[in-house]
Amino acid sequence: MRVTPPDLRRMKERGEPIAVLTAYDAPTARILDEAGIPVLLVGDSLGMVVLGYENTTSVTMEDMLHHAKAVARASHHALVVADMPFMSYAVSVERALENATRFIQESGAQAVKVEGGERVAHTVQRMVEGGIPVMGHLGLTPQQILNLGGYKVQGRSAEAAEEIVRDAILLEEAGAFSLVLECIPAPLGQLVSECLRIPTIGIGAGPGCDGQVQVLHDILGLCPGFHPKHAKLYATLAQEIAQAVSRYSEEVRNREFPAQEQSYGMDPDLIQGLRDRIRREGWSHATP
Ligand code: KIV
Repeated sequence: MRVTPPDLRRMKERGEPIAVLTAYDAPTARILDEAGIPVLLVGDSLGMVVLGYENTTSVTMEDMLHHAKAVARASHHALVVADMPFMSYAVSVERALENATRFIQESGAQAVKVEGGERVAHTVQRMVEGGIPVMGHLGLTPQQILNLGGYKVQGRSAEAAEEIVRDAILLEEAGAFSLVLECIPAPLGQLVSECLRIPTIGIGAGPGCDGQVQVLHDILGLCPGFHPKHAKLYATLAQEIAQAVSRYSEEVRNREFPAQEQSYGMDPDLIQGLRDRIRREGWSHATP
């Protein structure tokens, strides 16, 4: 049985923190699912950490569907939330509904995520009325990077903080089942969480949120040289991968790999017979 949006609401009511991670492919989705991570977010951070784009504005519906399918196929317990990419829900409510429906019907995700407050509240309401669970996203909204001019902490002034609180309440009223709060001061993250019945999922929004989300590659050390303040390093996998592939390459070059254990055997008479025929009948330009 998969985790559902009402399960997350109950976790908030019980005061049970919700650990969310991003996932973009089948093998990692399987590992996270088996580790008991209740929500897998197929984030459009995919564009930066997997596809090598500079920001998330290049990510397309097809990119997101492709990866959401892999995550949905490989998981059985977690709620899979697919990020709606840049401009896939801004052109019109109809277009947003069509695109959100594609995630549910084609990818097998059980919910979608959209960035923004008042500007998307009506769209969120229509999606929820249509039967599509929606996660909101406020604070630093990376799809606005070209307007924002950089990845900066949001909600520091009184006006900006008030806008985030008001937007959060609007999204809850529109029917969102939870809300990502990205890069806002911790006291504001706590206040928004206290104002809502739906769970807040923070990323750089402090310990007062009802849950936390992290980009998997950031906490596993898979993007060396990029380390956001809010990401704690739980492993240094890029280093481990580099060491492992150097060993592999060295062992191939000095013929240590493959050894007997990694090779398939054959009847020696059979292979000798074949070698003799090739020679005798002159099949090959080289001499086996
Ligand atoms: O795209 C993403 O991974 C996200 C998280 C950072 C919340 O939106």
